[in-house]
Amino acid sequence: MTGSTASSAEPLPPHESKDAGNAEISTLAAPGHALRYGGAEDVEACVALWREAILRRDGATADPAGLELQIDRLRENFRLPGGILLLAEDSAGQSGFALLIPQADGPSGYLSLLAVAPRAQGRGIAQSLLSSFTQARRAAGDRWLVLRVLEDNRAAQQLYRKLGWFPFGPLEPHEVTGKPFQWYKLLLS
Ligand SMILES: CC(C)(COP(=O)(O)OP(=O)(O)OC[C@H]1O[C@@H](n2cnc3c(N)ncnc32)[C@H](O)[C@@H]1OP(=O)(O)O)[C@@H](O)C(=O)NCCC(=O)NCCS
Repeated sequence: MTGSTASSAEPLPPHESKDAGNAEISTLAAPGHALRYGGAEDVEACVALWREAILRRDGATADPAGLELQIDRLRENFRLPGGILLLAEDSAGQSGFALLIPQADGPSGYLSLLAVAPRAQGRGIAQSLLSSFTQARRAAGDRWLVLRVLEDNRAAQQLYRKLGWFPFGPLEPHEVTGKPFQWYKLLLS
């Protein structure tokens, strides 16, 4: 799901500026977990979690060198204008995150990144992150959200379909790996 056409700009603000929204999202956390908005100080922990989750996802087919190239691009995602970072945490630390980029060309958002730590997968954390973003962005006036997912990422596709997202458009090659990905959309109104 990495990559976007928008240019790099200011990094995420420190999470203190997002504290006002933390009460609303906290009710949707998975059991044993808390949700909060993150900031620039959380980015490196997210990068480490993403690396761990992708290595687990891709198993023996993982390409460590290619992964490091993607991680450079990943950091650019966190600097896109207006990015909103949502974190899940448990007693062992950060368990997952999602990054959403509000779009300038309409009342919509682009879900740029989503990952859950391997140790915490299968406990509803991704579902809670996505549901929280859905609720928050609907309240903010967005009418739809989009994301893209690799065609062979069955776990993620099943997750999105379960939560009402639907595929649209043709498969496209990923700009770094060349692997085909599919766009998904969720209508909020
Ligand atoms: C995809 C990912 C985010 C799911 O996180 P998770 O917290 O384990 O997912 P949840 O526990 O919230 O699962 C919710 C639903 O997603 C689907 N799902 C999640 N993992 C699945 C798996 N391994 N196989 C099939 N379906 C799966 C199921 O429908 C599940 O509902 P159910 O438990 O009632 O069956 C996680 O596996 C991950 O981080 N993968 C690597 C990074 C990645 O691929 N990110 C997405 C990029 S587009």
